[in-house]
Amino acid sequence: MLVEFTSVGRNYGDWPAIDEVSFGVEPGEFVVISGPSGAGKTTILRLVWMGDLPSRGRVEVAGFGSDRMRPLDYALLRRKIGIVFQDFRLLPDRTVFDNVALPLQVSGASPASVRKRVFALLAEMGLSHRRAALPHELSGGEQQRVAVARAMVAHPVLLLADEPTGNLDPEVSRHVIDLLLDINRGGTAVMMATHDPRRVPPGRARFLFLRQGRLISPGDWRGGEV
Ligand SMILES: Nc1ncnc2c1ncn2[C@@H]1O[C@H](COP(=O)(O)OP(=O)(O)O)[C@@H](O)[C@H]1O
Ligand SMILES: [Mg+2]
Repeated sequence: MLVEFTSVGRNYGDWPAIDEVSFGVEPGEFVVISGPSGAGKTTILRLVWMGDLPSRGRVEVAGFGSDRMRPLDYALLRRKIGIVFQDFRLLPDRTVFDNVALPLQVSGASPASVRKRVFALLAEMGLSHRRAALPHELSGGEQQRVAVARAMVAHPVLLLADEPTGNLDPEVSRHVIDLLLDINRGGTAVMMATHDPRRVPPGRARFLFLRQGRLISPGDWRGGEV
């Protein structure tokens, strides 16, 4: 199992943001976490990259257990995980090339190997011609593709995407979802949080439904936008 939640709860103050959440993600799976705003989707993703630790229960990701993380383990775990957010979070004063290259550069890769990897990824994402542009010169869809390229540059085993289409119109959203499906076909597990699961074609992913911090069975989900 790549990700395993066992009876996980996380409180903020006295209030449980999530409670009794148990599920697993196998290597190479595509899992959609859906539920209304405030249901606990972002809390779950934050627990996966261990930006936060559970108040109860246990999280295990790529062999790292939330109950026995040593200080250096956080960096080791996060090397295996790529993250994409709703608001892209690109460095505004760096070019597309530099934004994508940065994670490799800080890991100490040689300039030649960084160039090779970044050029290949930008070509794959249809962004080669934009490599010298600054983020504000790009459309929203292009910015999100740059963010996805940055998340994938170090070959993560798991890609986390938190409302990755939240700022995009329907057609551009479809392209971003297609990109995530392509990445998943290449073997990378994907966990995507969205309040609108209809954006992901049924049959292409496993859906988890959250309501008020708890997983509910698909039969209890009324469909449509939640
Ligand atoms: N850092 C935090 N401090 C206090 N409350 C938080 C924090 N993060 C999340 N919450 C609360 O936890 C609940 C779940 O939030 P969140 O995981 O962001 O939901 P979602 O991503 O599904 O919209 C909400 O009630 C939210 O207000
Ligand atoms: Mg959220």
